[in-house]
Amino acid sequence: MEELLDHISAEIYQKSYVIVDDFVDEPFRKALLKEQIELVNQGKFRHAAVGKGGQKQVRTEIRSDEVLWMDANELTPLQAAYWEKIEEVRKVLNQRCFLGLRSFEGHFARYPVRSFYKKHLDQFQAVPHRVVTVILYLNDSWTAEDAGALRMYFPQEDGSELIEDVLPLGGRLVVFLSGEIPHEVLPTNKERISITGWLRNID
Ligand code: OGA
Ligand code: MN
Repeated sequence: MEELLDHISAEIYQKSYVIVDDFVDEPFRKALLKEQIELVNQGKFRHAAVGKGGQKQVRTEIRSDEVLWMDANELTPLQAAYWEKIEEVRKVLNQRCFLGLRSFEGHFARYPVRSFYKKHLDQFQAVPHRVVTVILYLNDSWTAEDAGALRMYFPQEDGSELIEDVLPLGGRLVVFLSGEIPHEVLPTNKERISITGWLRNID
């Protein structure tokens, strides 16, 4: 873990993003996935909203995923263990990148077949406190034909954008600066399960 944390902080410092495969081991991933599918089957997921506060609304033409917000007081031991790992990421980013991260918020996400999330930034006027985005994918298997990639956009000095597509492979962690990297979830051909969260500079 120590080396991994070094790697994550160095990459965030230099490139504003990092992709880490096998961030969690297979038994851990499978168990987290199983718990999440149970929550889905219990009908606990809701269409995700866009905007914040009074402006919050479901806009399925912008995003069509379903989410369940994590409640820090109601985590299963497994979810608490994941939260703990993210705490370690938070601490090392503070030590090495001086990001002043104070808390984590996150939700379980499910993208049903054909769902997507159009290009956006995770940090915007209404949610200025999200500094680092952290996504863990839980899927059993994933191929290019399953689509549903996370597409990241990297603005270039000449005004153009470079694109990188990241498949939601189980165990893969994606970390990036919320205010710097526009991204989208391309329409998926298969149910796509993840935990998405944000390290924030407020409590
Ligand atoms: C989000 C998001 C990306 C992904 O929930 O804000 O951009 O790959 N998710 O799930
Ligand atoms: Mn996002």
